[in-house]
Amino acid sequence: AVEEEVPVITMTGGNPAPIFELLKGTAIKKLVLVAARRQAQKAEQLGADAVMVVGQEGGGHLGRDDVGTMVLVPQVVDSVKIPVIASGGIGDGRGWLAAHALGAEGIEMGTRFIATKECVDASEAYKEALLASMEADTTIIKRSIGAPARALRNEFTTKILEIEEKTPTYEALKDYISGSANKRFIYDGNQNEGFGWAGQVTGMIHDIPTVAELINRMVAEAESIRLKWGQ
Ligand SMILES: Cc1cc2nc3c(=O)[nH]c(=O)nc-3n(C[C@H](O)[C@H](O)[C@H](O)COP(=O)(O)O)c2cc1C
Repeated sequence: AVEEEVPVITMTGGNPAPIFELLKGTAIKKLVLVAARRQAQKAEQLGADAVMVVGQEGGGHLGRDDVGTMVLVPQVVDSVKIPVIASGGIGDGRGWLAAHALGAEGIEMGTRFIATKECVDASEAYKEALLASMEADTTIIKRSIGAPARALRNEFTTKILEIEEKTPTYEALKDYISGSANKRFIYDGNQNEGFGWAGQVTGMIHDIPTVAELINRMVAEAESIRLKWGQ
């Protein structure tokens, strides 16, 4: 990534200091994904250019404190000077504008982009499951091993939760939480032989637009809210 001189690198899941070291002397912006105020402050102290804050409604790996985007974002905004990007539970123009109202400078969306035409790696079954799922149809796996992550609830995640209840060890879980178990669902579409990350925003996904259609719609939604309230 350094050789390619990408403009921005996002870091997550641990101490970013060793990666910051590799980026010294480059113009690459350092963006750190955090899930708690103290992590955001730490990232700022280490020299992050911005932090991305994910609330517990988000898809994929989450913080351990179960704090939602609505509460987390303004607190992080108040505790750092660098720009904050809001993430977790955002899927339309309402969420986008709300994030700005909370003090964020931008947003990140994960789950919503899976259900787009351009996301060709995602199997039809994964996209269909996102369309069919309601806001309560996700579950958090891997909490017992200290790495909570939100996925669509299915037979496979129910099995994972059973194992977590009885034998909460990495050894017992590893075949079920592996990258290949993830791929079996998201790439191959074998719904009950794997798991697919998704946030609670899945309940708000009702179509598979192109990314341009999605963004244009979000801009139009945000604009109509701004016209209603922003005068
Ligand atoms: C399919 C999928 C894969 C993800 N993979 C990663 C990842 O590899 N690294 C990471 O930091 N976050 C990952 N995330 C989390 C997103 O970066 C983001 O925090 C989250 O999707 C935001 O919540 P939302 O899904 O409600 O938009 C992933 C999310 C999804 C839905």
